[in-house]
Amino acid sequence: MVRISRRHLLCGAAALGLLGGCGSPRHQPGIATPQQLHADISVWDADALPSVQVSSSVTVTYGHGIDGLPEFPGDEVRPQDLGGKLFLQLCGDDPAAVRDAASRIRPDGRLRWREQGFCNAERTNGLGFRDGIVVPKTPQEFDDEVWLPDGSTIAVVRRMKLDVGAFGALSTNAQERVFGRRKHDASPLSGGVEVDLSAKTADGEYLIPVDAHVRRAHPLTAGAGLMLRRSYNYAEGLLFISYQRELKSFVNTMYRMTEGDALLRYATTTSSAAFRIPALD
Ligand code: HEM
Repeated sequence: MVRISRRHLLCGAAALGLLGGCGSPRHQPGIATPQQLHADISVWDADALPSVQVSSSVTVTYGHGIDGLPEFPGDEVRPQDLGGKLFLQLCGDDPAAVRDAASRIRPDGRLRWREQGFCNAERTNGLGFRDGIVVPKTPQEFDDEVWLPDGSTIAVVRRMKLDVGAFGALSTNAQERVFGRRKHDASPLSGGVEVDLSAKTADGEYLIPVDAHVRRAHPLTAGAGLMLRRSYNYAEGLLFISYQRELKSFVNTMYRMTEGDALLRYATTTSSAAFRIPALD
C-alpha cells in the first residue's frame, strides 16, 4: 500500500518513463500510460483529492471541472449528471484493487455519479467493434494534440447509454456501415489500412457511408484536432473519455456527429462534463 500524494503520482509517472528531464512538465498517469483493464470513474462536488493509501497497482488521475462544454442535440442529461467539480479516474488490472482504492478515496463533497468501467483484451465496445484505433500515439502527437505547454490537458467525460438490442438486430453488414469499419478485424470499409474518405465504388458511391461514424468523427470532416479517446465499457454502454489540448476538438467533432452520425441512433448521452487535468508539480 502506498500513500497517494502528488509526489507519489510523480514517482509513478517517472517509473514509467513518461517524464522528461528537469524542467519538463510532468503529466499525470492514466492518460499516456497503457490503458488498464478496469476503472472506477466518479464525478464529485469537491475541491481536492484527499491524501489516502491505495495499492501501487492502481493509477489515479484527477481533474477540476471547467465550463465551455455545451449541451448537444439529443443529450438526455439530468442536472446532477451535468458538470461537476472533481473528476476521479482510478484504473488497474485487478478489479479488487480498483474497488478498494475507490472505497478509500472519499473526496470531501457530494458524489454526483460513479460507474465501474472495463475493457476486454480485444478492446471491443458494447456493440462488438474495436475502439481506440485512430488516436495520437507518438510523443510528438501527444505534444501536438493532447498536452498543453504546462503539461496539463482537458478531459471530456460522457456516459453514453447504448441500445445494444436495436444495434444487435441489424445485419453485420448494416452494423459495419454504421461504423465504417469491419466487425471482425476493424479494417476500414474503404479498404487499405487507414480510413480513406474519398474511396468510391464503381457506381460512384462512397465506400465509407456518408453517415458512418468514422466519417462524421474524422478530423478532416469535423475540422478538429485528433483527440485521445480512452473510453471504458460499463454495464449500460460506453464511458466515453477523451483527452485533448483544446475543448473545441471534442465540441466540433460532437457537433458534426449530431448532424448525421448513424451511431447516435444507438447511443444516448446521460452524463456530460469537462475537466482540466493539471500537471504534477
Ligand atoms: C457510444 C459512443 C461511441 C462508440 C461506441 C464509438 C466507437 C468508435 C469506433 C468503434 C471507432 C472506430 C475505431 C477507431 O478509430 O478507434 C471510433 C472512431 C472514432 N470516434 Fe467514436 N465512438 C463513440 C462516440 C464517440 C464520440 C462521442 C466521439 C467524439 C465526439 C467520437 C470520436 C471518434 C473519433 C475521432 C474516431 C476516429 C475517426 C477516424 O479518424 O477514423 N466517438 N469510435
